Amino acid sequence: MKPDVIVAYPLRSRQMAVLEETYTLHRLDLAEGEERDALLQKAGPICTALVCNGHVTIDEALLAKLPALKLAACSSAGYDQMDVEAMTRRGIKLTNTSEVLCDDVADTALLLMLAARRRLPEGDRYVRSGDWGRKGMMPLTTSTSGKRAGIVGLGRIGMAIARRCEAVGLTVGYSGRTKKAGNDFAYFDEPVKLANWADILIAATPGGASTEGLISAEVLNALGPTGSFINIARGTVVDEPALIRALQEKRIASAGIDVYLNEPNPDPRFAALDNVVLYPHHASGTEETRDRMAQLTVDNLAAFFAGKPLLTPVN
Ligand code: DGY
Repeated sequence: MKPDVIVAYPLRSRQMAVLEETYTLHRLDLAEGEERDALLQKAGPICTALVCNGHVTIDEALLAKLPALKLAACSSAGYDQMDVEAMTRRGIKLTNTSEVLCDDVADTALLLMLAARRRLPEGDRYVRSGDWGRKGMMPLTTSTSGKRAGIVGLGRIGMAIARRCEAVGLTVGYSGRTKKAGNDFAYFDEPVKLANWADILIAATPGGASTEGLISAEVLNALGPTGSFINIARGTVVDEPALIRALQEKRIASAGIDVYLNEPNPDPRFAALDNVVLYPHHASGTEETRDRMAQLTVDNLAAFFAGKPLLTPVN
């Protein structure tokens, strides 16, 4: 008999086909309202595993409807929508896929940093609109090489960003709860001190309560009027209204943003700013990485049902 698995968020089609073949799937992602309640009532008591991604909220209310659950296999790095403490208390394991997406997320940090400082979207519009021919050269932009990059959170992704920053000639510093061994980057115990030192501040921490509002108005002021702020972490990590004001009032020079408080409908004031480059929470959005994330999720499920150690456990 095939084990019963709840799908709260679908994987890519290739991996969904594997799931269909191996398990009896209960597609919560396709159900709404009463249909969803009925599905949970039927599948809740028999499903020991759930497939999801970082956008799925797993809270006490949902867990109460899944009394047999033992594994949530999450196809994302972030799990800030999940009550990990409640899951652990109930003996539910969580797995994620941060191992396979670092490179693309770090590339995106670099992409946003360079695009913001060199005003890439404006340059693109300048050529397409014919302004180049009509007005001559576009206004000068700002160098990156030779400057200082401050990374808030030197985890796996932060480290991948640090290496890329070094490759483009930046001096790297970081802030975090503890100083990390194995690197010679400048360490600051608070983001405000890091921002004071840095020309470019990059948020690379996990989301969730412990990092909420970490990049405050004070931190942005410390970054200063020539500074750039890059966020590939979570919208909650920054005081977003303060960031918008800092950009409007040119208290920081520019920003490159992949994540927002209100996704997928970010604060419309962002779109009115010409000193910010916007990306639609797509840092891991490549064919290759999404394929690796989905495969790792399938592999974690397989390990679980084979009674083997999980490949990438969180708790
Ligand atoms: C994740 O997987 O949590 C990231 O936000 C991908 O961009």
